[in-house]
Amino acid sequence: MSRAISAVKGMNDLLPTDVARWRALESTIREVVRLHGYREIRVPVIEHTQLYVRSVGEGTDIVDKEMYSFVFHDEPMTVRPEGTAGVVRAYVEHGLHAKEPVSRLYYEGPMFRGERPARGRYGQFYQAGCEVFGDPGPLVDAEMIDMIVGLLRRLGITDVEVLLNSLGGKGTKARYRERLVEYLEPHKDALSEDSKRRLTTNPLRILDSKDPRDQKVIASAPSVLDVIGDDDRAHFDGLRRHLDKLGTPYTVEPRLVRGLDYYSRTLFEVRGRGGELGAQNTLVGGGRYDGLVEELGGPPTPAIGFAAGLERLLLATSVAPAKDQPEVFVAPLGERAMGEALALARELREAGVPTLVEGRGGSLKSMLRRANALGSTIAMVIGDGEVDRGVVQLKDLAAHAQRDVPRAEVVSAVTEAVRGGSTG
Ligand code: HAM
Repeated sequence: MSRAISAVKGMNDLLPTDVARWRALESTIREVVRLHGYREIRVPVIEHTQLYVRSVGEGTDIVDKEMYSFVFHDEPMTVRPEGTAGVVRAYVEHGLHAKEPVSRLYYEGPMFRGERPARGRYGQFYQAGCEVFGDPGPLVDAEMIDMIVGLLRRLGITDVEVLLNSLGGKGTKARYRERLVEYLEPHKDALSEDSKRRLTTNPLRILDSKDPRDQKVIASAPSVLDVIGDDDRAHFDGLRRHLDKLGTPYTVEPRLVRGLDYYSRTLFEVRGRGGELGAQNTLVGGGRYDGLVEELGGPPTPAIGFAAGLERLLLATSVAPAKDQPEVFVAPLGERAMGEALALARELREAGVPTLVEGRGGSLKSMLRRANALGSTIAMVIGDGEVDRGVVQLKDLAAHAQRDVPRAEVVSAVTEAVRGGSTG
């Protein structure tokens, strides 16, 4: 045998047993967002690198260190590290703002970041996200956070904490940046190399740092809420009032800044506690980005969104997958029975019953063992004797009951049994 090639570290295969759980998760998410009026958008996985530089921002970990970028025919391109930038580009490119006053968009798919792989942190991971364009909030901000908490509850994820902050608009952000630099300058020598550099390029990003040297300094840093402007404060208070009214619990975390530059005003994260999550416990992150549409060439348009990491949701949820193995296992015994089995299987599938035909032959015992292992509900045994008599034998595998059914009645007997849970 030749040497096998393994997958790239941090990029995972999803085998059929995994995919069953994924589909159950995705269908719950789709149902919840549909109930809130979101419509799905699909955008490319590859975009011009400049899109992320201008939105996520230079000086962020994502843009500085984690993007899978390459040059193709002299054009710098990047495999998307996140979904918002691409959706905003599409929103602007197709002039959606001119077609509808408010757009509620949903997306899901793989994202790529060259981070050190760990439990819950991968090079290729999946996000489901929503973006609302054209609504300044704060009502929609509260509705979105409440939708996320409700979604998690439906997934059985109840031990969560919602962290909330406001970064304010342009004015507040600029004031905060100044205040932060004033505070950090005297501590410069105690900071990590990255943070020293960011002091001039992107000081807000120092607050994202996980480096213990930075953490010590950050612990006493001023809060954005100290310098927040009146309008921004009123927006934040409005959001909090709506959440209070809904009874959706949250904790104000004044040092929450999140690692992307496009945010303004509302910021939030939902973290899971305990379970299998370990250190990567941020399930959902999001916030408002009122300046980004304009920044990327569209008209001034307020916007807010979030994305959930699907691997992390799966680590935290106990959601059970829908059955995805064939209901009916057809066991033909003998040459003539094979042809009959194929024809019957086709009729059953046309009637909507997932059916598998064992084509490899073998003893009845071995075939029934396989039917049981697959978790089929019914085994349909056809020998040449059954063909001669114009019947098939239906075995209810759970009840260990069996009976002969005339050929012409097989489809209705099976559909009834599958729906009613018995062949009798
Ligand atoms: P983000 O916080 O970078 O935000 O990512 C959102 C979620 O994606 C995280 O909370 C986490 O669950 C998951 N995630 C991120 N990186 C990884 C990774 N390497 N492995 C596994 N899961 C990961 C955004 O991406 C923004 N686009 C969210 C947003 C939408 N803001 C406004 N609209």
